[in-house]
Amino acid sequence: MNVPLLALDDGALADRDDFRRDVLAGLGALPRAVPAKYLYDARGSALFDAICELPEYYPTRTETAILRDCADEIAKLAGPGCALVEYGSGSSVKTRILLDAMPDLHAYVPIDISRQHLDATAARLRNDYVGLRVDPVSGDYMALDALPAGINGARRIGFFPGSTIGNLTPDEAILFLRRARRLLRSNGALVLGVDLRKAPQRLHDAYNDAAGVTAQFTLNLLRRMNRELDANFDLSAFAHDAFYNEAEGRIEIYLRSLRDQTVTIAGRRFVFAAGERVHTEYSYKYDNAGIAELARKGGFSIAHTWTDPDRLFAVVFLK
Ligand code: TRP
Repeated sequence: MNVPLLALDDGALADRDDFRRDVLAGLGALPRAVPAKYLYDARGSALFDAICELPEYYPTRTETAILRDCADEIAKLAGPGCALVEYGSGSSVKTRILLDAMPDLHAYVPIDISRQHLDATAARLRNDYVGLRVDPVSGDYMALDALPAGINGARRIGFFPGSTIGNLTPDEAILFLRRARRLLRSNGALVLGVDLRKAPQRLHDAYNDAAGVTAQFTLNLLRRMNRELDANFDLSAFAHDAFYNEAEGRIEIYLRSLRDQTVTIAGRRFVFAAGERVHTEYSYKYDNAGIAELARKGGFSIAHTWTDPDRLFAVVFLK
């Protein structure tokens, strides 16, 4: 049976228009790039969850362990009766560590681009934390300038885990922090997860796992274009290409064409030369001085920093 177009809601149709527009613009420009947010369709999100479990991908389990250790201190620094505001909440797994440590929270405000994800997560949290006020906000947290009226009066504590700040360029990261400072107000605070600079081999391995899950994650972008944009990418003719650029302090992730080829996407033809790369994402890594500089330029000061014994990852409390 054909799935009728009406089975897609207006949101899904608008999403597909955005995807087509951004792909055609990104592949038409030089250097070629596709925005990283399109990696996260249903299959991409499942692959990313699998990445978080990989032995080479240390950030998720390291940050989780740090949060378990410092949750009580975070709760103390936050104080009683505050509102926890999470940027890009996804399925709110790490959040539960903080919710468990903050039983007198006034409200939890998850912000996420995916309405569906948000509603499902909010329902689960209301069920598991009886009496907790959950006020979800759907939208792009880079653009948001107001929070639900119900939290007025409560001290606002932002939560931005996963080193997602590293997926912004340093200039974008500063812009994000300035906006967060305004949204969270002058008595607010921000709990930030940041991946630290370390031996390049360790970083390289985290984005080039032996099982090839990260490669599947990157190549899923082509699969999504084939399905949603009527493209004809040969997935075996492109490779996941990720490496650490030490001078810039960032992992760079690309799709690389393995031969000269022509691909049709939404009725348009694109020529790829052998070895040509399409950028998908950066993942910036910071040292302590870099975090302090970000905080200062973003209008915050560091109240406390927690790390793991191997200093792989940092959780910072900014005020
Ligand atoms: N913020 C994570 C990171 O930079 C998530 C991520 C983005 C990622 N792209 C990825 C993880 C590609 C693995 C592979 O590490």
